[in-house]
Amino acid sequence: MIIAVDGPAASGKGTIARALAKHYRLPHLDTGLLYRAVAHNLMSAHGDPENEQDALAACSFEDRLLDEPALKGEETGRIASIVSAHPLVRAALIQRQRNFARQAGGAVLDGRDIGTVIAPEADAKLFVTATPQTRARRRHAEMQKAGSLKSLDSVLADIRARDRRDAGREIAPMQTAPDADLLDTSYLSIDAAVQRAIALVDARI
Ligand code: C5P
Repeated sequence: MIIAVDGPAASGKGTIARALAKHYRLPHLDTGLLYRAVAHNLMSAHGDPENEQDALAACSFEDRLLDEPALKGEETGRIASIVSAHPLVRAALIQRQRNFARQAGGAVLDGRDIGTVIAPEADAKLFVTATPQTRARRRHAEMQKAGSLKSLDSVLADIRARDRRDAGREIAPMQTAPDADLLDTSYLSIDAAVQRAIALVDARI
């Protein structure tokens, strides 16, 4: 069984994907971490994120890099969304994701193009959304807890810029697969969103 969970930054897709993995006892891959790992390598090498060859050179890394807390930072996410628009970067990471999806017993993958490109054959596909304002409030609260002084307005501007880049790129843009179920978490608690996600997946499998 393959479950694809796509959606924009801070929509709740990561939390939902982890909860689904636990509920159905499946391994989980946060595919955003792969692009974040590329961004991290590129930044360490002082590469130019807009340069496709620099980004490609940053694509080989061991799985253990994915556990690094440094990958979670805002700047790493921003650079990840620039390098992820390069076709050669996406091509370099595709097999890794497909191998994970097609392992015995199944998997849950979350990202932007899982239901459309990585695993179009997935048994259940969710597209998790929330309004930009809701997502900005969530991200802002997380950042404040971590000691950031960034304003809500500037977090909202970053979220909108990231959405534009991810949905507007030519290759594998973030979009809802035609056979995906939409899950808007704007007015749902985490528990309610997870219960709704399980009900949607149960109805598909
Ligand atoms: O989900 P996360 O914020 O960790 O993803 C970081 C960036 O990686 C996204 O903004 C997006 O540009 C890119 N990404 C992607 N395809 C995926 C997952 C993430 O292009 N499947």
